[in-house]
Amino acid sequence: MPTIGIDAIALAVPEGYLDLADLAAARGVPAGKYVEGLGVSRMSVARQHEDPVALAATAARRVFATAGIDPSTIGLCVVGTETAVDHSKPVAAYLHRLLGLPQQCRVFEAKHACFGGTAGLLAALDWIAAGSARGKKALIVCTDIARYGLSTPGEPTQGAGAVALLVSENPRLLALEVGVTGSYAQDVNDFWRPLYSKEAVVDGHHSVQCYLDALAGAYKGWQDASTATGNTEKLARRCYHVPYGKMAKKAHRHVMQLEGASEAEADASYAAEVASSLRLPSQVGNIYTGSLYLALASLLEAEAGELEGKRIGLFSYGSGCCAEYFAGRVVKGAGAFADSLQLAEPLKDRRKYTFAEYEQIRLRDEEGDKRPVNGEAHELPEGAVAFVGVDADRRVYIA
Ligand code: CAA
Repeated sequence: MPTIGIDAIALAVPEGYLDLADLAAARGVPAGKYVEGLGVSRMSVARQHEDPVALAATAARRVFATAGIDPSTIGLCVVGTETAVDHSKPVAAYLHRLLGLPQQCRVFEAKHACFGGTAGLLAALDWIAAGSARGKKALIVCTDIARYGLSTPGEPTQGAGAVALLVSENPRLLALEVGVTGSYAQDVNDFWRPLYSKEAVVDGHHSVQCYLDALAGAYKGWQDASTATGNTEKLARRCYHVPYGKMAKKAHRHVMQLEGASEAEADASYAAEVASSLRLPSQVGNIYTGSLYLALASLLEAEAGELEGKRIGLFSYGSGCCAEYFAGRVVKGAGAFADSLQLAEPLKDRRKYTFAEYEQIRLRDEEGDKRPVNGEAHELPEGAVAFVGVDADRRVYIA
């Protein structure tokens, strides 16, 4: 069987961010609580024109451009999101036009909190392995704007952004072990967003425990599945879903302790196996469906060359909950290819918002989805897509 996996990755983030030290000062808490305590330095703040469709389209256009792939080769496009723009029309339908995807293409949206993108990725792997792709590639886009109420404990764990993944045979970055995964599911009330609300509701500390329980279950399932195939090779690096960096550290400690390591041993292996995947997430914040893949991009941006041939573990968690543990191998040549993708480029030259600007952006958010197309000018970066308002309830985008 040919190898199947992630051929290329690209990110899109809003043009501005809030420094967590500024948020801490405004909320009267020590900056250390957010920066060291949660492991977040900056969070991306999306303005009205940077909606989940615009971010998704921008990331996808970038992946086609940087990977040198033509949209006509796509046969499946799945968008994972929990902050979609419509109850019926999927983000993937907007992408179909904005990206120029072919008509012979299956497009849909997948929702399960932060797990939606992984659901799309696993579906794409099976689609290719089953022979349904017939030479075509899949495009999986994870896109979200993470919003909690102002002055709530969740506020410092917001963020916004999209990650586009090209999935194909003979991938140039990460060959995934198709069919060898550990799943875990349970009906829990840890984090959710009622239909009337743009802001998530969360039982914060309970959500941390739900994440750890799901990790233990999925990891055990994956170990059993992997051992059954005769593969007991050690993982060189581990990427986790990153609602905030400290959560990934807690996750890693939990897994290592399940394997019999002491706390000190777990923390030492965290520095070697996890830390480099948290650099980009600490600059962007939580991007829900894309968070695991932002961590993967961070890892590959930092170390793809040294990791060629090495096995990487991936943990995806979606509140509610559903989780999956799976693994893959960094392929030969991935180092040079990852360099050419310039994965961190979209984070360069961002604008730093003041706390007052952040509050203003949040207030304007209220009118968001009903704002008429009013000709507001946007100076868009090369390749970017923007939401410009609604016309008779039809959302309008410019590129
Ligand atoms: N300097 C350094 N560290 C400090 C500090 C200081 N001055 N003050 C506090 N800290 C540390 C605390 O010791 C704590 O660290 P540990 O967890 O290692 O003990 C950390 O800062 C956070 O402090 P608190 O627990 O007191 O923070 P909180 O109660 O205000 O909020 C939270 C934390 C519950 C995670 C909250 O941010 C939240 O609700 N976030 C959203 C929910 C979430 O992200 N859950 C994650 C699992 S669910 C999931 O993953 C799905 C998803 O994407 C949402």
